[in-house]
Amino acid sequence: MRDMPTRDQVTEALREVIDPELRRDIVTLEMVRSIEVHPNGVVDVTVSLTTPGCPIRDHFQSAVDQAIRKLDGVVGVNISFDVLSDEEKRALGVKLGRGSLPEGALAQVSNVICVGSGKGGVGKSSVTANLAAALAAQGKQVGVMDADVWGYSQPRMFGLNGERAKVGPNHKILPLQGTDGVKVVSIGFFIDQDAAVVWRGPMLHKALQQFLEDVDWGALDYLLIDLPPGTGDVSMTLAQLLPDARFVIVTTPQAVAQKVARRSADMAAKLDLEVAGVIENMAGFTTPAGESFPIFGAGGGQLLAEELDVPLLGQVPLTMALREQSDGGLPVVLAQPQDAAAQAISAIAQRLIAMTPVALPMMAAPEPGVGGSASPKPMGMSLPMA
Ligand SMILES: Nc1ncnc2c1ncn2[C@@H]1O[C@H](COP(=O)(O)OP(=O)(O)OP(=O)(O)O)[C@@H](O)[C@H]1O
Ligand SMILES: [Mg+2]
Repeated sequence: MRDMPTRDQVTEALREVIDPELRRDIVTLEMVRSIEVHPNGVVDVTVSLTTPGCPIRDHFQSAVDQAIRKLDGVVGVNISFDVLSDEEKRALGVKLGRGSLPEGALAQVSNVICVGSGKGGVGKSSVTANLAAALAAQGKQVGVMDADVWGYSQPRMFGLNGERAKVGPNHKILPLQGTDGVKVVSIGFFIDQDAAVVWRGPMLHKALQQFLEDVDWGALDYLLIDLPPGTGDVSMTLAQLLPDARFVIVTTPQAVAQKVARRSADMAAKLDLEVAGVIENMAGFTTPAGESFPIFGAGGGQLLAEELDVPLLGQVPLTMALREQSDGGLPVVLAQPQDAAAQAISAIAQRLIAMTPVALPMMAAPEPGVGGSASPKPMGMSLPMA
């Protein structure tokens, strides 16, 4: 009979396997689902990952294998993976001190809408800024949170490039005012222009958390969140922090883009977030003479909407005005409301308003004296890069 390590010894050995993103060992993180030590010298381990397509799965595979093989008597290691349940993810978030937002942090925010896409460059940021401006033009209180910390673009879209965020009397960050009173917060207001932000994991989580909880958003009908491209850490963090947020998925009309966008829909489903609808952007170009060219194909938005069984909120054509105004810092819906893209986005805003209740206290019960007496902890400007 071989002298095999005990389960406890295997557990101890696994403490050297660190999750590179969460920067703690997988035992502390309670990601070791099961350990079975067989008399023939083989150890079976199941590790639970935070997401099924976890990019660091290979890291776990080799680190777990190495850690266990060091133990006397072990001749083989079988590693399998599963995924933490929503409940476990939430518990993990709480454990890491980065779970949900404190009661009342967004008490006066009625609707949170994340604007995402599977791939980059489809116009998420342009759509977000213009949708915000269109909602504001229709009398709504609107905030825009730029969750793209690596490639932030909201400061530019609202003509606020190079501006700095200030702290209000209650020690909360004051959003900058874009056109039509849209409140904007972006990492661009905290760092030097062109400085690279490389955070992932906890730092990133902390920054986003601060953007939600330490910003004086006040009363908002809509908080729009401009997501970075792809389906990564940011979405996961926001899903944890904002379980009631809804997703709007931007796609271009060609079938390939639509497949990629489908991925972000899958992610929304996994994270238990509701998809409110699809916006097709870059849906053709019409010449001043009225001739129409489907530059990026046609029909992708409709297909995706059908597949997800959600409404196609609208199709936004390619126009020069939209591009120029995005660069120029005044959303096209305000600068040139007659522009075809501006009209499409204004119609989408109307549709969103029709879909979303006006004053539903989604986030938390209102806190007495929000914005004053609720003794917020002084945090100054100390974002995690400080
Ligand atoms: N309907 C449109 N008509 C003309 N130009 C557009 C349109 N939509 C987006 N653009 C242009 O396409 C470029 C990419 O748009 P934008 O930055 O909004 O995309 P994004 O999805 O946010 O990109 P990223 O993934 O990098 O965050 C910008 O130059 C923008 O002005
Ligand atoms: Mg963007």
